[in-house]
Amino acid sequence: MKSLGIETSCDETSVAILDDGQILANRTYTQEIHSRYGGVVPEVASRAHLAKLQPLCESVFDSCAIDTANIDLIAVTDGPGLAGALLVGTSFALGLHVSRAIPVTGIHHLEGHICSAMFAESGPPPYPFLALVVSGGHTAIYLVEDFGEYRCLGRTVDDAAGEAFDKVGKMVGFPYPAGRAIEEEAAKAGSENGIGFPVARLDTPGFDFSFSGLKTAVRYHIESKEPTYLEKHRPGICRAFQDAVIEALVSTAQAASAKTGIQRIAVVGGVACNRRLRAAMNQRLGSATVFPAPRLCTDNAAMIARAGYERAVRGMLRPPHMNPAARL
Ligand code: KG4
Ligand code: ZN
Repeated sequence: MKSLGIETSCDETSVAILDDGQILANRTYTQEIHSRYGGVVPEVASRAHLAKLQPLCESVFDSCAIDTANIDLIAVTDGPGLAGALLVGTSFALGLHVSRAIPVTGIHHLEGHICSAMFAESGPPPYPFLALVVSGGHTAIYLVEDFGEYRCLGRTVDDAAGEAFDKVGKMVGFPYPAGRAIEEEAAKAGSENGIGFPVARLDTPGFDFSFSGLKTAVRYHIESKEPTYLEKHRPGICRAFQDAVIEALVSTAQAASAKTGIQRIAVVGGVACNRRLRAAMNQRLGSATVFPAPRLCTDNAAMIARAGYERAVRGMLRPPHMNPAARL
């Protein structure tokens, strides 16, 4: 079964073709234009998707030397995301569905991220497993009982982890998105750099996260020093910030694993590219931690096509209904 995936929920335009769940092609265009504004501008994103989606789709078909006549299923992200951006992808998918009579299914963006774990080198994690979703728009931990059965054990009560990376990155002078730049800057600092930031402990009953206090702590720290401080101590600030985010993620994942008795944890979403997070998860949660390759952690259409394939083989297709609301 050949499935075509389409992802346009935020600032990545992505198209992929899978054959029985395996990637034949997966091309992603990242809209660099937003870096000059310090964050994603929704209307600019929609227009860039409009300009890019069709040529990208044609290039993906060309690279596999196949035609729409060979496609058995279209899977498109229909939420959550930016309303205008989602509209471009879902309209394109519905156009192909009607004109070529190809079945179509809507996919929740977070179901897509969770399905990216199925491309892990160690193979798809058997059910049940925990999924730590850490991206620019979402931070949550799910108990995945089976395909399509997601129980949210906790989520951020304010900023997402990637959002905190991006906002702190802006404070220390990096363009959007700043996650990778912070990781690289932090790597220049020694472990004993004398800077430390608090890790939020919530008194909610579940496994929630909070990153906005950490972000404010970084701001006050920088503002309390002389103007040249930031230039001299940027690596140390990045290191201490990154360590605090990682501690929050890893300790919460550990607590969720202990409570549920489930050791297998998939870490997905853009922040899962972070090598120190990967190392800390492996060290403290053991080899049962599953990570997709970095290019499949950030937004991509292969994960959407894979979720579509999993839905198709279980007879769980559903019509796309554009839904920007975030909860899975
Ligand atoms: O999954 P994604 O592409 O988009 C959303 O669904 O939000 O994630 C993008 C986020 C950005 O906030 C970016 O700064 C962060 O992932 N990110 C990282 C790294 N690479 C990307 N954060 C920390 N370390 C990284 N190496
Ligand atoms: Zn995403």
